[in-house]
Amino acid sequence: MNRRRALQNFLAFAATSPLWPQQEPRLTNDPDDPAWPVNVHEFEAIAKRKLHPLAYDFIAGGAEGEQTLRANVEAYQRVFLVPRVMVDVSTVDTSIELLGFKLEKPIIIAPTGGKNLVIPNAEITVARAAEASHTVVTTGSGADKVMDEAANVIWWSNTAGHEKKSDAASYAKRMEDRGAKAIVVTVDNPYQSTRDRNNRNRFDYGYMQTGVPNEKVPPRTPALAGMWQPHAANMTWDYVGWLRSAANLPVILKGILAPEDARLAVEHGASAIVVSNHGGRQLDGAIATLDALPGVVEAVAGKIPVLMDGGIRRGADILKALAFGAKAVLVGRAPLWGLGAFGQAGVERVLWMLTMELKVAMALAGKPRIDAIDRSLVRRA
Ligand SMILES: Cc1cc2nc3c(=O)[nH]c(=O)nc-3n(C[C@H](O)[C@H](O)[C@H](O)COP(=O)(O)O)c2cc1C
Repeated sequence: MNRRRALQNFLAFAATSPLWPQQEPRLTNDPDDPAWPVNVHEFEAIAKRKLHPLAYDFIAGGAEGEQTLRANVEAYQRVFLVPRVMVDVSTVDTSIELLGFKLEKPIIIAPTGGKNLVIPNAEITVARAAEASHTVVTTGSGADKVMDEAANVIWWSNTAGHEKKSDAASYAKRMEDRGAKAIVVTVDNPYQSTRDRNNRNRFDYGYMQTGVPNEKVPPRTPALAGMWQPHAANMTWDYVGWLRSAANLPVILKGILAPEDARLAVEHGASAIVVSNHGGRQLDGAIATLDALPGVVEAVAGKIPVLMDGGIRRGADILKALAFGAKAVLVGRAPLWGLGAFGQAGVERVLWMLTMELKVAMALAGKPRIDAIDRSLVRRA
């Protein structure tokens, strides 16, 4: 039996399961069918083969010695699940309510700059995949225009901040007018970090717009170019008020790790926070996000939703984050590996795969609904 036939048989069989999602994965005649990789790591391997090595390093890499990058992923390996049995899991519902929206699943696409290193017009391709997958997408500044092409997607606008109140206000108003449903302020990058891989590659930050040229070009940049660039380095807690007074949009602060900062975020009117260390790309040595999460959840005490990101490669990783109190997770690299491997279909497939893995993990853990998931499900090794 050929591989395509075998897959079709499997899909027909799997479709009889109540866990099977309504949208079936698409099958194409492409020998590189996005239905073949069986997990996010395999998407990464395919993307790595297809991408320019400088682009791959830019996406995969983290700050300096990459301690935090590794720690984010490893943190899930130290946490184990204690499933409950004899629970009716004949249906499993992954939906949540977040900031007034009903979402099919607690998975959101994180903001990632430099997508054009993967494919041209990547921001719009990812937005279209998000729309088709009913997934919220967070998108960088300037990307609001591409939303015209994915008119039904729920999108959040990401900013690294503004130095002046007037600029913050006009940005917030513009995003509201364009249809953003929230503003996500990245609070962990007052300066661009030092990234050894990019420095070693003499990575030119101009490539973030243009992609890496195919022909060999002599390095234009000295080893540490592009590092330590300030991004609204004067930003303080007042910034939340600047945005809130200008537009009627929730303000989400992304990059909180300390419980004290979580409390201050609540005090200053943040609508939600994201426990994040920028995927290990900013302060190297920063605590892994799964390890930081319980302290932040405790400090917030249910006053606002706590989201998290970093290192999520499996549905069970999401289940662990939810058990420690996250309302939803963001995924950064995972959809980019889908994008690099197979374009829009790859992003959709990665989102579908993570959702299915989460659903199966919930069923096997005896948790038919998100609100049934709590701390009793997890133990640290
Ligand atoms: C290539 C790349 C670019 C990123 N650009 C941004 C950005 O512009 N703004 C931001 O807040 N976070 C950015 N991030 C961090 C992600 O939003 C997210 O926090 C992180 O990727 C989560 O970790 P994960 O990749 O392990 O899922 C970027 C991450 C990657 C991999």
